[in-house]
Amino acid sequence: MSEKKRIFSGIQPSGDLTLGSYMGAIKNWVALQDEYDCLFCIVDMHAITVRQVPADLRRRSLEQLAQYIACGLDPKKNIMFIQSHVPQHAELSWVLGCYTQFGELSRMTQFKDKSAKHADNITAGLFTYPVLMAADILLYQADAVPVGEDQKQHVELCRDIAGRFNYVYGDTFTLPEPFIPKMGARIMSLGDPTSKMSKSDPDGCVFLMDKPEDIMRKFKRAVTDCETAVRYDPAAKPGISNLLTVYCTATGKTIEEAEQEFAGQGYGVFKPAVGEAVVELLRPIREETERLLKDKAYLESVYKEGAERAQYLANKTLRKVYKKVGFVARG
Ligand code: TRP
Repeated sequence: MSEKKRIFSGIQPSGDLTLGSYMGAIKNWVALQDEYDCLFCIVDMHAITVRQVPADLRRRSLEQLAQYIACGLDPKKNIMFIQSHVPQHAELSWVLGCYTQFGELSRMTQFKDKSAKHADNITAGLFTYPVLMAADILLYQADAVPVGEDQKQHVELCRDIAGRFNYVYGDTFTLPEPFIPKMGARIMSLGDPTSKMSKSDPDGCVFLMDKPEDIMRKFKRAVTDCETAVRYDPAAKPGISNLLTVYCTATGKTIEEAEQEFAGQGYGVFKPAVGEAVVELLRPIREETERLLKDKAYLESVYKEGAERAQYLANKTLRKVYKKVGFVARG
């Protein structure tokens, strides 16, 4: 690869991709693909930290790949692959786990939240998930990791693990920076604008594959406030502010332009307009995804080639690590 900086990011196929995943992550990846060497992963091994229906996981993993492409990620420019196809992730994860403290993992807020939510199934996998994520990033010597605010703590832990390993064994890993996009970074639920749009809340959430009438219905029902002014004020008007963010991310307009456009018009005009903008944004993505899903041979060629290119890079790092910790070379 060239001297371009390297980026790694991934999304779990634990639910269908949402408008939040597109606006908060994939749209930014599309903008980065020319400037950086990028790896975009479908992190299926992360997904099984909570129980999945096998057939759904398989369908969603392939659909996610098709959606990455349909959203504008070019498999020729980027390495796009499925995590479980590159066994080096699991291998490095084991080593890194031996350089991670129990206390550090116990402090991860996502672990605390998820273990509270799945109190009957708090597995070792859920606990060590940030170590696997560190392996994802460090295997490829990524310089930057585009993530949402909720993943920042994991990227920081990854830096700590990398720094510790480097301190003991000499320079091995690049220390990655979290890369948090400003606009549209956090799309909130349409049902509860104080929490993030989540695939586990189907009414507050728009899926990339939703039909236009479902999208319109969800936006018309979006929770707002009892004023009438379309004004951006996240503290006082979280619902309207979220809709403004969605509208501006979909149309490319600025918040000021949108506020002016809807001045004096009320929510009855504004909410369907946001719905329309999202319908038009998602239509080509949905149609292209459907077309790609029919072309199984093409999708297979993309993920096979992606895994091959990823393995080549991953192996270089893993060999170095195995040597440093004292494993006998396989020859
Ligand atoms: N943990 C991330 C999430 O849930 C997904 C993820 C796994 C990831 N490995 C990664 C993101 C590596 C960035 C880099 O959103």
